[in-house]
Amino acid sequence: MNCVAFMVVTTSFLFWTDAVNRYYNKDKDKALQYLTEPPVYAEIKARRGENTTLPCVLRTVSSNYKVKWSKVDPLHTASENILISNGHDVKHYGTWQSKASLRRMHALDISLRLTKLELQDYGLYRCELINGMEDEHVTITLSIEGVVFPYQSSHGRYKFTYFDAKKACEEQDATLATYKQLYREWTDGLEWCNAGWLHDGTVHYPILNPRPACGKDLPPGIRSYGPRHKTKEHYDAFCFTSTTEGSVFYIPGPLNFLQAAHACNEKGASLALVGQLYSSWKFLGLEQCDGGWLQDGSVRFPIITPKKRCGGLPQPGVHSFGFPKKTITLYGAYCYR
Ligand SMILES: *[C@@H]1O[C@H](CO)[C@@H](O)[C@H](O)[C@H]1NC(C)=O
Repeated sequence: MNCVAFMVVTTSFLFWTDAVNRYYNKDKDKALQYLTEPPVYAEIKARRGENTTLPCVLRTVSSNYKVKWSKVDPLHTASENILISNGHDVKHYGTWQSKASLRRMHALDISLRLTKLELQDYGLYRCELINGMEDEHVTITLSIEGVVFPYQSSHGRYKFTYFDAKKACEEQDATLATYKQLYREWTDGLEWCNAGWLHDGTVHYPILNPRPACGKDLPPGIRSYGPRHKTKEHYDAFCFTSTTEGSVFYIPGPLNFLQAAHACNEKGASLALVGQLYSSWKFLGLEQCDGGWLQDGSVRFPIITPKKRCGGLPQPGVHSFGFPKKTITLYGAYCYR
């Protein structure tokens, strides 16, 4: 790996952790007087489509308080207001009206309820008590449980600018993954020998078994190329998706691409997106030892328990045959309904 690039990454990473620590320490230095410290629920996990509650509890009943909920961007310490309430009236900001409300289960409850979670709702939320003298706040992390998958263009390796990568993920029912999401998938066994864009404009690749062609003699881990030029440089993408309302099922072949699309339509379904196939594999245990067409023209199959007769692949995962010619009729169809 390029040594200078590595130095830059290390430095910016240290700066980032330092910034985050300082951010939290500011909370930790001072004992809270008006809000209850969240010792257990500092991180809330939920899946796409679910409703969730971010807990925040007053210490004493007060008739004269104001609470503000906001979403914080940990990198820039900028924040976006969600709502402000004085205990009676609630003022919502922007599109949060349809999604966020104060739960108010009891007199001390100022928890935030979020409905119909979307992939981009993950992040740091701040519950802030404004009482005129000393404002104080607690922060809670919301993580969306999901799955990260590498995505390559049908034209081959390293064809996406940052913006192409973002669009490609969206077209597969996903978003560009964050570093944290990629890291979690790596701990679950994701290895990918090509570098891909992440949401923050950095480029990484996850390695479990370093070898000459892949990760060289450094220890296993997430290799980093650091921030890259978003329009001039080209890589693959790491996409993130979560649960879906429907599910993916398999129709046996032999079918070519058009026949596969037609077979799905006849069942009131459509050819699955890559994100939908990964979601059914991860959350519904979909396993099928046969390649099938997907809507992007790729052919893949999902494996939970690797077997000899099933390609002899060593890892569970969604395996890919790439993008075969669409007139080839050797495959089945993965449909989503
Ligand atoms: C989420 O909340 C909305 C509105 O309160 C409700 O209609 C919906 O059924 C809830 N969904 C789940 C999965 O609980």
